Amino acid sequence: MSHLSPTVAAVVLAAGQGSRMGSDVHKVLHPLAGKPLLAHVLDNLEALGAERHIVVVGAGREQITSAFPDLAIAIQEEQLGTAHAVQMAAPALQDFAGVVLVLYGDVPLVSATTMARLCMAVASDTPLAVLGFRPEDTRAYGRLVTNTDGELERIVEHADATPAERAIGLCNSGIVAARAERLFPLLAQVGCDNAKGEYYLTDIVGLARQAGHRVATVEADALEVMGVNSTQELAELEALILQPVRT
Ligand code: UD1
Ligand code: CA
Repeated sequence: MSHLSPTVAAVVLAAGQGSRMGSDVHKVLHPLAGKPLLAHVLDNLEALGAERHIVVVGAGREQITSAFPDLAIAIQEEQLGTAHAVQMAAPALQDFAGVVLVLYGDVPLVSATTMARLCMAVASDTPLAVLGFRPEDTRAYGRLVTNTDGELERIVEHADATPAERAIGLCNSGIVAARAERLFPLLAQVGCDNAKGEYYLTDIVGLARQAGHRVATVEADALEVMGVNSTQELAELEALILQPVRT
């Protein structure tokens, strides 16, 4: 996949607490099929041919740096939200002019092919692309709100959504790709007037639309974008990937 046309830098978010893992081991260091969750993400980035990656870390970061001594990190002292987390990587990307791919350290199975599809959807008139999926159970995921032409208008978080918005089946994986020179100015505009009082990365979609930009949607397989929030989810994911043929 190193024939990839846009130059890609990845920002991998891993500053969340992971309090439902029931152990002191950092969430992204829990093994899945024999290697840490974060190693799955980094290996797929290598297959993609990403130019560089920055992992955003917070509490428990010494565990991450001792497991991955050469890792480029950015520190988020307080977990103020996903938009704020991505902003922590801005200094490291000051000289970077390509596509920034935002990934989660606890979403281990996004393939290089899917990453490339998302990055390729970014174009000169489309500075932002969002990876959506249609889960069987929409749970607490953010929903992708489209207009009558089927174009993405904004993302609404489950906690902020109306009953009609909660009926939308197309969900946000959280993974986005954006042109660096557009991404950071959009992030600077994000506020925290919402149900959780956090700086939501998802708000950059509505902000980009207000600025007259197009936002692309790429759909992924639900299994690929499954995240790990608990030991039970980790066990479920492991069972699924070790037994890929199911009926
Ligand atoms: C996020 C998305 C939601 C999407 C869901 C997919 C936002 C506002 N919402 O919600 O639309 O459906 O993911 O799973 O983005 N993190 C940090 N620093 C922070 C906050 C989070 O590094 O300050 C990291 C976490 O470690 C995690 C990732 O970002 O890896 C996502 O955070 P999480 O709190 O799980 O987001 P959700 O509320 O699930
Ligand atoms: Ca989550």
